Amino acid sequence: MIEQDKIEEIKRQTDIVDVIGKYVQLRKMGKNYRGLCPFHTEKNPSFYVNPEKGIYYCFGCMKGGNAINFLMEYEKLDFPDAIKRLANNIGIEIDTTKGLRYKELYEANDLACQFYAQCIVSEVGRRGREYLNRRKINLDRLKEFRLGYAPVSGGLVQFMRQKGVNFARLQQAGLVTSNRELFRDRLIFPIFSLSGRVIGFGGRGIDDNIHPKYLNSPETPIFKKGEGLYGLYQSKEHLRAKGDVLLVEGYFDLLSVYQHGFANMCAPLGTSLTEHQALLLSRFTRRVTILFDGDLSGIKAALRAIGLLIDAGVDVYVALLPENSDPDTFINTNGPQALEQLLEEASDFFHFYRGAVKADTVNKEVVLIKDLIQIIGRIKDPIRYDRYLKHAAHVFNIPVETIKREIDQNAPVPTPPVQTTKVSREEKLMAMILSGYEHFSLAKKYLTPEDFVDEGVKRLFNKLLKEDSFDIAELSGMVDEGLRGKLLSAIMRGEPVSKESLLDAIKNYRGQVSKKRIIKKKSEAVRRGDDITRQECDRALLALEREQLNISIEKAAEDEQPNGAKREAN
Ligand code: GTP
Ligand code: MN
Repeated sequence: MIEQDKIEEIKRQTDIVDVIGKYVQLRKMGKNYRGLCPFHTEKNPSFYVNPEKGIYYCFGCMKGGNAINFLMEYEKLDFPDAIKRLANNIGIEIDTTKGLRYKELYEANDLACQFYAQCIVSEVGRRGREYLNRRKINLDRLKEFRLGYAPVSGGLVQFMRQKGVNFARLQQAGLVTSNRELFRDRLIFPIFSLSGRVIGFGGRGIDDNIHPKYLNSPETPIFKKGEGLYGLYQSKEHLRAKGDVLLVEGYFDLLSVYQHGFANMCAPLGTSLTEHQALLLSRFTRRVTILFDGDLSGIKAALRAIGLLIDAGVDVYVALLPENSDPDTFINTNGPQALEQLLEEASDFFHFYRGAVKADTVNKEVVLIKDLIQIIGRIKDPIRYDRYLKHAAHVFNIPVETIKREIDQNAPVPTPPVQTTKVSREEKLMAMILSGYEHFSLAKKYLTPEDFVDEGVKRLFNKLLKEDSFDIAELSGMVDEGLRGKLLSAIMRGEPVSKESLLDAIKNYRGQVSKKRIIKKKSEAVRRGDDITRQECDRALLALEREQLNISIEKAAEDEQPNGAKREAN
């Protein structure tokens, strides 16, 4: 593990606005910074960063934490990798391979990748090699993809045993299911995380009698199909440099185009594009060219992807392939120049949409126009929005004002950056305790877990009592998502916590809790006709009030008597 004091130093020296500012455009708003949330699609900023406390929080999707959490979430890094990144920023050297979470899963996947890659260049892999040749795939030009072959006869389990990886771990990694190796007689496409670790596999059956044609690793803690993109690790630097990506549908499409020098490519992992993937892409590039199959299902998939990509704030172009061809067959039949040409002729989403939806009746045309207007309404860049608006007005011969009205009518109600769920008194106090953690000894002295009613808060307080340090990055492991969101939002809104203000809050809270308890006891006593207890309760309430008001007993006796008497009369 990385030494604790090194982590502390890194955290101290890290400026969270600096870290997040690299990915999100932030604007200063009072003591906070504000921007568009990178974790969900929105038009109005509800993502806040507080440099003083070193935290971020989105009032829209309730994601939040410190700089470490941010890098883990955004760059899909593990805790040690996130620390390493922060350390690099400030010039501190650390070794992080030791503390990696799910280390065993990464190891199992990497070893499996080695096994399959060995097979494809040895005798058992002849079938795989021949298949690749038939499909014109050149292994040498695709080294960074670490392609492999899973033999008909298996062999993974045995290989792993020699490497000291047992069966249970292979099961965890999804590489075997009830005694059988998952991939047999399949070409293997390792899938990489953004930091270059193998996290899962895609496998294509070598002959067309194998079903299903494609098979992916099941989801594991390190592999989520809807979240990653095939090829992104290999091409992300090209994406950044060129500002453009070619989005294809399949593994083969990607590889066979990539090997001809098209280095900026991605594909979803066997499903249609997700919102998550669209957002992921938007971190690396401002422009996406969709290159899907030329059939109806390809066009439908493109139409769907357009909306998601526009929501993610990128510019969308669509290159149209001839019917019955996909990028793989196209480049193998017509060559790379022809593809280049096709890409140059790619139309923006507007024209693609118009061409794709055959509007041969007025009614269909109306539906098409409304769909298009709806997509235009989602464009975030004001200049681009304006251009498309005018363009649509011109093409369909409709006044701009009419289109605007249509957009306004259908505009989703923006998520206001306000608290939707109420934060209770004890949650507020807990937020203060966390925010002013350096004064935790005060909380320890004056509060017990029994002072909290909410189970989550109580459990958290118990945990805090046992730990000798606390880090917002670890909050997610300590409480459920709902409570975490509420605490973070209260911390984000709250003022800095001094010793005095915390003490005040604790006294206040304890006073309220005791008061509730006594009032309950009193009403029970009244019901029983137990005068002695009732009077005891009244005295206790009075004492409480004095304590809270911090008024000397003598003075309080004068001032408070009538009040107390009045209450007694009630
Ligand atoms: P080839 O036939 O090998 O050229 O594949 P393709 O990419 O042309 O096939 P297709 O257009 O049918 O599929 C596109 C992508 O969808 C593939 O690369 C896979 O990721 C995925 N896919 C296709 N068929 C299956 C299947 O049977 N199961 C799963 N899980 N994914 C599939
Ligand atoms: Mn194909």
